Amino acid sequence: MAAAVEMVGIEKRFPRVVANVGVNLVVEEGEIHALAGENGAGKSTLMKILCGLHAPDAGVVRIFGREVTDFRPAAAIAAGIGMVHQHFMQVPTLTVAENVVLGEEPRRGPFFDRRRAEERVAELGSRFGLPVDPRARIEDLPVGLQQRVEILKVLARGARVLILDEPTAVLTPQESESLYATLRSLKSQGRTVIFISHKLREVRAAADRLTVLRRGRTVGTVPIGEVDEAKIAEMMIGRPVLFEIEKTPAAPAGAVLEVRDLAGGRLRGVTFDVRAGEIVGVAGVEGNGQSELVEILSGLRQAGSGTARLRGRELSRAGPAAWFEAGLGVIPEDRNLRGLIGEMSVADNLILGRHRQPRYSRAGIVAGAARDADAAGLVERFDIRPADPRAEAESLSGGNRQKVVVARELSRVPGLLVAAHPTRGVDVGAIEFIHRSILAERARGAAVLLVSSELPEILALADRILVLCGGAIAGEVRGAEATERGLGVLMTGGAPA
Ligand SMILES: Nc1ncnc2c1ncn2[C@@H]1O[C@H](COP(=O)(O)OP(=O)(O)OP(=O)(O)O)[C@@H](O)[C@H]1O
Ligand SMILES: [Mg+2]
Repeated sequence: MAAAVEMVGIEKRFPRVVANVGVNLVVEEGEIHALAGENGAGKSTLMKILCGLHAPDAGVVRIFGREVTDFRPAAAIAAGIGMVHQHFMQVPTLTVAENVVLGEEPRRGPFFDRRRAEERVAELGSRFGLPVDPRARIEDLPVGLQQRVEILKVLARGARVLILDEPTAVLTPQESESLYATLRSLKSQGRTVIFISHKLREVRAAADRLTVLRRGRTVGTVPIGEVDEAKIAEMMIGRPVLFEIEKTPAAPAGAVLEVRDLAGGRLRGVTFDVRAGEIVGVAGVEGNGQSELVEILSGLRQAGSGTARLRGRELSRAGPAAWFEAGLGVIPEDRNLRGLIGEMSVADNLILGRHRQPRYSRAGIVAGAARDADAAGLVERFDIRPADPRAEAESLSGGNRQKVVVARELSRVPGLLVAAHPTRGVDVGAIEFIHRSILAERARGAAVLLVSSELPEILALADRILVLCGGAIAGEVRGAEATERGLGVLMTGGAPA
């Protein structure tokens, strides 16, 4: 029997980089196949070739035994490939049913047949175990359900092979669990699944087999039972990775950030300090006020009430410029929306917000030499790939974009670092590096507020942990005494364990 997907000797070059070179990938029908590898290894590119978004420069692609000659999305869909995009591919103001049938609406005469569309969605939902209200509006659904709609959409177009590129990056742990249950149910219905992930624990739990790419090449394909997390990491990076990082006790000094009764959006009045030389973690199920907290503390949202003082300056209703002037560095939640300017070069992105400083500007003109020298240093230190400060930010892989944001914000030498999901989308090697960098900021005397949905990350770094639940602080735990289970209880509104 032919494999569902067979990619042999795939090569793909972009003007500045070779993304794939001699990549081989065989995915059997009815398996869940994980794709892992360092940031920039070529995973997304390979999947875009399979979906008809790129044509390869060399190599052969076969889908269910038939060689692909036409590398366009319509041809890939006709061959049975379905790409599950992130939620931004949907129209937020339309209903679930309208989104699922978008482009192939059932009609009765000249009119959209709403009833048939809704029945169709309900039928698909029950067949694949993916219940969702066909009449709900996309914008009212949590991200996990939006993603479910995207899956229904590709199933409605007859996909036999579903491709998901980092599907759990923006999901809560609970939503991720439910997604993996969905993937298993698709598998039991004979569908084939390929997913990309940096979360090795999930890869171990969800996949049947794993293929690892490194620097555009296939390292190997293994049954998941034959490898543990450490082995996967080593295949990815080419050296052993330390999962445990050493942390000395904090020696905090005076308060740098003083937050009093701060409210806005879902945030219902929080009070806490972050002192120089300490890392305060904020844990919580996403949507319990974390986003609002980060937005207020970086000048993107005005507080409804309460105060926030950075080094003594009250800024709860100030804009980003005032926050930066007072000494803020911020790794925002969404690097594409608020972190980077895609069409600008990596070098220009690395000095963003500082481009008017004397070092970078003479009479309003960017001083190229200083910028390029500083950028080259940061690109090397943070291992941003390709190591080319002139590359456009949007040509970078997802994880490398994140590294640009982290590099820029740490290089500000901030008095207060607000880090929201600092390792989202980055590979295991880069996680290790970013964690060390945040600890180095603490050692230098910065106050750090770390917001993360990854409890292991908070447990590894935070000296104190605040748990947000329903927009309020449900509890505070010392880092050394915290456990995943204890935090989980507070996060879901239970009493401290
Ligand atoms: N449209 C493009 N133009 C130029 N270069 C590109 C383009 N798309 C990808 N690249 C480059 O190709 C290489 C592989 O990128 P790709 O997005 O496939 O990596 P990835 O394995 O998905 O990484 P990540 O884990 O960070 O998402 C990177 O060096 C990237 O900069
Ligand atoms: Mg990618």
